[in-house]
Amino acid sequence: MALLSKLTAIPPGIQTAEDYLAHAQPRLSPEVLHYLEGGSGKGISLKANLDAFDGVQLMSRPLTDVRCGHTRINLFGQNFEHPLLLAPIAYQRLFHDHGESVAAMAANAQTGQMVVSSLASQSLEEIIEAAGQPLWFQLYWQGDRPRTLRLLNRALSAGYNAVMFTVDAPVKQAVMALPDDVRAVNLESPLSQPPVQANQSLVFDGWMTQAPSWDDVAWLRDQIKVPLLVKGLLHTDDVANTLRLGCDGLVVSNHGGRVLDGVPTSLAVLPEIANMVAGKACLLFDSGIRRGQDAFKALALGADAVMIGRPYIWGLSVAGALGVAHVIRLMRDELEMTMALSGAATLADIKLSSLSDSALGR
Ligand code: FNR
Repeated sequence: MALLSKLTAIPPGIQTAEDYLAHAQPRLSPEVLHYLEGGSGKGISLKANLDAFDGVQLMSRPLTDVRCGHTRINLFGQNFEHPLLLAPIAYQRLFHDHGESVAAMAANAQTGQMVVSSLASQSLEEIIEAAGQPLWFQLYWQGDRPRTLRLLNRALSAGYNAVMFTVDAPVKQAVMALPDDVRAVNLESPLSQPPVQANQSLVFDGWMTQAPSWDDVAWLRDQIKVPLLVKGLLHTDDVANTLRLGCDGLVVSNHGGRVLDGVPTSLAVLPEIANMVAGKACLLFDSGIRRGQDAFKALALGADAVMIGRPYIWGLSVAGALGVAHVIRLMRDELEMTMALSGAATLADIKLSSLSDSALGR
């Protein structure tokens, strides 16, 4: 069946970001849709990510004066109108001919930020030029330090002004077979794997010999002056290491349920991690955010800002920059409405006490 073409206007009847999914489905091939929507294993973490938000209750606080309220935030000296960043998502030309450039333009139009994946399908220079503002760069380890440094330096020279090092997906899993015209254009050809002998493990003696370690995080910290965030942490010991190594931020994330199935949801581990971080570093959150209310809950449980994953790709798949911008705007509107009804005029007013006591077992 032929795929529907992109829209040049916002489709009628859209009330929430989730409404974009139904419009995205007929515009993506089954393979691409599966790549976007799928989780790893049995999809336990993928489902749990969404359910987790339902388990946290809000609390209405009528009659609070929230006039002049706003959602502005400053991250690493950069001002944004809202705390909804676009998460790094690979190969965006699968979803739109102009891929990452279009999403980056939308992030800027909404006075927000996008984190561009190492696996971007357009050149880093082209994306930042289209964006019209410095962007953040998501780094995947490139098998060894010289290769990683070359990629990093290219991003920094192009004007990317923060680096998010994703550490939770070191083992390359089979992605869908990419179409001929979509590839990770910014990467060198893959490093060849050391030959694995019959009595050796493909995982330990093969793939994992090219995976990064804590020493590499320390090395990376020494290489760059721009803010360094580590993405993909769930365990408090790993958070402690990240802080000890002088990283500027971290992202509590289970990669949208796409890597190790069965791990806790990001939301479940957030409060303990937030307690540890306690303002020592910038604390970001992703995995499962679908509405502004979800963002509110993550902020109340201690995140400074959140990243949106799949929902902005639904917008991209339906109506390009307009769709992405609309998804961000819808979520921001929901966040603002939730803040107003919960008595929070600014992000600083969103606290643990903004949630219902019973939801937290207090
Ligand atoms: C991702 N994610 C991801 N993360 C990363 O650090 N680098 C990457 O290249 C990608 N690529 C990617 C592709 C696709 C199709 C998806 C859905 C996700 C993970 C992403 O940054 C984020 O952690 C999750 O998407 C958050 O979960 P939700 O919001 O999609 O539930």
